[in-house]
Amino acid sequence: MRPVELMTQTAPAPARLKSRVGAVAAGPGLIRTHNVVKRYVVGGAEVRALDGVSVTIHEGELVAITGSSGSGKSTLMNILGCLDSPDSGDYFIAGEDVSKLKSDQLARIRNRRIGFVFQSFNLLPRLSSVENVELPLLYAGRHHAAAKAREALEIVGLGDRLDHEPNQLSGGQRQRVAIARAIVTDPAIILADEPTGNLDSRSGDEILKLFETLHQQGRTILIVTHDPDIAAFCPREINMRDGKVLRDGVPAASFAAKIGD
Ligand SMILES: Nc1ncnc2c1ncn2[C@@H]1O[C@H](COP(=O)(O)OP(=O)(O)OP(=O)(O)O)[C@@H](O)[C@H]1O
Ligand SMILES: [Mg+2]
Repeated sequence: MRPVELMTQTAPAPARLKSRVGAVAAGPGLIRTHNVVKRYVVGGAEVRALDGVSVTIHEGELVAITGSSGSGKSTLMNILGCLDSPDSGDYFIAGEDVSKLKSDQLARIRNRRIGFVFQSFNLLPRLSSVENVELPLLYAGRHHAAAKAREALEIVGLGDRLDHEPNQLSGGQRQRVAIARAIVTDPAIILADEPTGNLDSRSGDEILKLFETLHQQGRTILIVTHDPDIAAFCPREINMRDGKVLRDGVPAASFAAKIGD
């Protein structure tokens, strides 16, 4: 994987983020699941999309979630992101049991604590970059939405594309707008499902560099990926098979060697 030069375009972290670094691997975990099960029944046949998943993610970690198609990665992300609830098992965010909450309560947690990045960007087509990034703040009734959206776009290196609509941006730029939208509420966790899947390798590298910068600022980031290079880029890889965690630890190839300085 080639080194990229995004670091120079990226504004310094807001002071409130820097203190998060150093909290890694202490305490009970920012995210903790215990024996989470999710089943689907289609045409009388049951699929255990998650079959007893227990993971702990600490504040400030950057984690790749890997595994073959159908292994349960997106199902796990949907539960971690409070888009869905487990059939059984426990899920705690910052010590709060969220596994048995109703959908309106889940929506509140989602808006307050989670930032999502999707493979297909999921930007609204007729809104500018600033307007797309403002949306989660407006849903949450937060003040100074436009100023915060501009700050988030500057962090991702798009301070000069504030008024562009998605179809006036490259794929990599669209994903950076989506990342700005994910960070603008200052969420506890950023969940990214195949964030480079629709990008060419150069744009994909830039997005990974941006995630690394956000990680260095102390953000907690989970990236679902099929790409072993992306897994190697992360300090920790959770590998899934048939709804179970097969392996959880340092990826085979080293993080630093892959991305360069
Ligand atoms: N809404 C659903 N209804 C029925 N079965 C589902 C549903 N969502 C997922 N599944 C099944 O659960 C299993 C896990 O699916 P999931 O989408 O989590 O896999 P994945 O690891 O994200 O795969 P991919 O890499 O292809 O995105 C699959 O066998 C899938 O067919
Ligand atoms: Mg998936």
